[in-house]
Parts: sequence; C-alpha cells; structure tokens
Amino acid sequence: MNRISLSLGLSLLLGCSGAPETSSAESMPVLDGEASVKPGINERFLAEDLDVDAFVKRFELESREVFERRDEILDACRLDPGERVADVGAGTGLFTRMFAKAVGPEGQVFAVEIAPKFLDHIQRSAARLKLRNISGVLCAENDVKLAPESVDLAFVCDTYHHFEYPKATLASIRRALRPGGRLVVVDFERIPGVSTEWVLGHVRAGKAVVREEIEAAGFRCLAEPDVGLKENYLLEFGLR
Ligand SMILES: C[S@@+](CC[C@H](N)C(=O)[O-])C[C@H]1O[C@@H](n2cnc3c(N)ncnc32)[C@H](O)[C@@H]1O
Repeated sequence: MNRISLSLGLSLLLGCSGAPETSSAESMPVLDGEASVKPGINERFLAEDLDVDAFVKRFELESREVFERRDEILDACRLDPGERVADVGAGTGLFTRMFAKAVGPEGQVFAVEIAPKFLDHIQRSAARLKLRNISGVLCAENDVKLAPESVDLAFVCDTYHHFEYPKATLASIRRALRPGGRLVVVDFERIPGVSTEWVLGHVRAGKAVVREEIEAAGFRCLAEPDVGLKENYLLEFGLR
C-alpha cells in the first residue's frame, strides 16, 4: 500500500464524522453544533457519479484566472524545499502537484479533500508523475483531519466559499499549522453591482467578510500580494 492509499485508508477508518444532523426548526444541516452556511454547495463534488475529467477541463484551463496566474500564486506562497503544505480542497490537484515540485522530495504535500473521487485522481496522477511526496487526506466537512502542528502552509484556493462549516474548519486548520505557519486564501471577489450573477449567487461572502471570519478564528492578515488577479484576491495570514 503506498502512502496515499494508506493515508486514505486511515482517514476512512479514523476520520470523517457522519452525515450532518438536520435542524428540524430550520431544515438546516448542523454538524457538531455549527449550522451550514451554504447547504448543498458541495453536492456535485460528493456525488458518486462525479465526472473528474469534466472538472479537470473546467479547473485546469487558461481562461480560469487562478489557472492562468498559477505560477504567480505559487510564488506568493513563498515555499522552501522541505516544507509541508496542506492543499485544502485540492480538487483535481492542480496546486498539489505544483507544491510537490516546489517543496521537493524532502517536503510533503497533503491533498485534503471531502471528495474521494478527486483523491483517487490525485493519487493516480501523482503516481504517474512520480511525485512521491503527495499524501491524500479524506477529511470531514468541518475538519481537515491533519495532525496538530504538522504543516507550514495551508492553502485554500476557490474553496473557502465551499466551506459549509467555516468556524470548525478554520479551527482545524489553525491546529494543523506549526508555530510560524501561514494560511493563504484565494477566492472570488464578490462585489454587488460588479461581480457576475453567478458569483453573487454561488459565493456567499466577499473579501472583507472572509477576512473578518478568518481573523476571528485566530489569524492575522499579513499581506495581500498583487499576483495580477482581477476576479479573485489572495490573502496571506499568520497565526495570532
Ligand atoms: C472549486 S473546487 C477548487 C479546487 C482547487 N482548489 C482548485 O482551485 O483547482 C473546491 C473544492 O473544495 C472541496 N471542498 C469543499 N469543502 C471542503 C472542506 N470542508 N474541506 C476540504 N475540501 C472541501 C470540494 O470537494 C472541491 O474539490
């Protein structure tokens, strides 16, 4: 059993909480006391018939701004060889693979996902590319399931607005960061009157609210580097 399947197996055995309870009063999923902030947003990723190839075509193409700017985003993460990175909401593994090359064989990348089919895909592509420093972690919707103080950087691209339980998820990210560790969040600008109808409907909160939520979870904003994004922003946080 290689490291990815071992880690997946362990996560399956030890990891995920069960399905959320539903609050009868509001018909709102509630997990460990926290109500979902966007019920159903991850349904398509969790579907058994998830078409991974369709998402590769959707996530890994030049007309997607974060793909077009992927090298600048990687540079803004300021990774050193040997570091440990968690790509939280790794999706098809676009950034996971870039991080794996950046941290090198002495480093480690955890591809953290709620969607088992994306993790299968990441496992297969890592094996094909001989990127042996990638481990898949099947996490819970409210817990990244990483060991305490185990990573130097947590990276959350186009995924913060998919967190149904941001308070608990952020607390689990905070626990996973080593002292001096950082959190980088890339997400959509959401500006009424400017952003598209799709963004306004799909993305529940704009940059100011996201920043407030993350700061309230025990982080401080360190920087907002200009990486040439227009539809998205990049915020870097440290621990408070
Ligand atoms: C829009 S995709 C972004 C994928 C990748 N980060 C990228 O930018 O190409 C969002 C991903 O977040 C995952 N996701 C949603 N909620 C999550 C959570 N609480 N913890 C970890 N992953 C989550 C989804 O399964 C999905 O793969």
